[in-house]
Amino acid sequence: MKSSASDFRRTSIPGRLKRLFAATMSLMDTSHTPPDVERLRALTGIKWRHFEDDVIPAWVADMDFPTAPAIIDALGSMVATSDFGYNGAAFDDSIPKAWADWSFTRFGWRPETERTKVLSTTLQPIAIALSLATSPGDGVLLFTPVYPPFFSIVKKLGRRVVEYPLNETGWRIEADRLRSAIDAGTRALVLANPHNPSGRSFDAAELKSVADVAEEYDLLVISDEIWQDFVYADGAGHIPFASLGADAANRSVIVTSASKSFSLGGLGCAVAYLGDAKVAEGIAALPPQLLGGVNALGAQATLAAWARGDQWLSGVVATLRANRDHLVSRLASELPEVAVQTPEATYLAWLDFRATSIAHDPAGRLLRDGRVGLSPGPDFGAAGTGFARLNFATYREVLDEVIDRIVRTVQAERL
Ligand SMILES: Cc1ncc(COP(=O)(O)O)c(C=O)c1O
Repeated sequence: MKSSASDFRRTSIPGRLKRLFAATMSLMDTSHTPPDVERLRALTGIKWRHFEDDVIPAWVADMDFPTAPAIIDALGSMVATSDFGYNGAAFDDSIPKAWADWSFTRFGWRPETERTKVLSTTLQPIAIALSLATSPGDGVLLFTPVYPPFFSIVKKLGRRVVEYPLNETGWRIEADRLRSAIDAGTRALVLANPHNPSGRSFDAAELKSVADVAEEYDLLVISDEIWQDFVYADGAGHIPFASLGADAANRSVIVTSASKSFSLGGLGCAVAYLGDAKVAEGIAALPPQLLGGVNALGAQATLAAWARGDQWLSGVVATLRANRDHLVSRLASELPEVAVQTPEATYLAWLDFRATSIAHDPAGRLLRDGRVGLSPGPDFGAAGTGFARLNFATYREVLDEVIDRIVRTVQAERL
């Protein structure tokens, strides 16, 4: 018997979950705390506003938990004292220093503050670096499927997307395949390290092969490390690309921020390590007004995150790891036809629906029939056809409802 959208509606948020969950929340252990769905629906953020009210959103990469207490304190006191004037952090090197300490403590790599630029988003320096270091018509290699704006930046700048299809090599980067993907006009590559949407945390050998091939072909390497803090592997953690050696550092631009780790996407503060001299000189030559400034709230939230957010983040990462394991195990037992490679990093699961009867448009069918909002695979490139991306950074009860709806939708099509 097929379930209809109205069946799901009857058992959905705001009905069932809203009644089930109280508003109390522990900020340190988010794993088994009750979700405050009222709070989530009232937020101005797009995650819970984009779809109709009976849809559970599991799409855009924002977490549902309130951010770290240190950040709430910092922003709360700014609001209480109307501290919105031109902010000191926009004129000194406190943010580069805070990033250098964070990165050194966690990953053993200290980005030099003199080579660090503070900007508003992580994507901004990607677009700037490509426009400064490549020319119209040049090839820019992407490891696909990949975060959709990478495609649009390359195309809007009039550069060409050159693809390394990761799913053809078991989601691993292989030096020979990389060499054969590069064409005569390829001048740069953009790496999501860790990788969105596959959840790969590239290992030292893979990153070294990228560094070697980049040196061989004299490519600029832009490494987007916004997911740096969400690596679940035991032992080996995140490896910043620029930590691989002097040549890697000098041909790269590393971009990151506190925004993914602490849910600060709307606050507009990011950092870029400008290892490549052409990019560094090009940016230095621009009128600073063209780049825009960092806003006071984003600056202070970032400083609080990197100075005092580590304990909170450890709790969140443990929660996400448990969510990941729960998701993978439920899918394996209840929906084995949906393949998923356990993400080594990120809070995203790249679900392969190609063996199901909703393969032609999984995200569309899950939205229409299941009332659950995943990111459509084709947004991540042609290699994403038959896939959908699920964000599992939410409360366990919400995640279970998301999984229930996926299971019901796919099972209904089995009959
Ligand atoms: C790989 C990657 N880069 C960049 C971003 C967005 O960063 P920002 O808003 O700082 O540009 C995201 C967001 O999900 C992402 O996954």
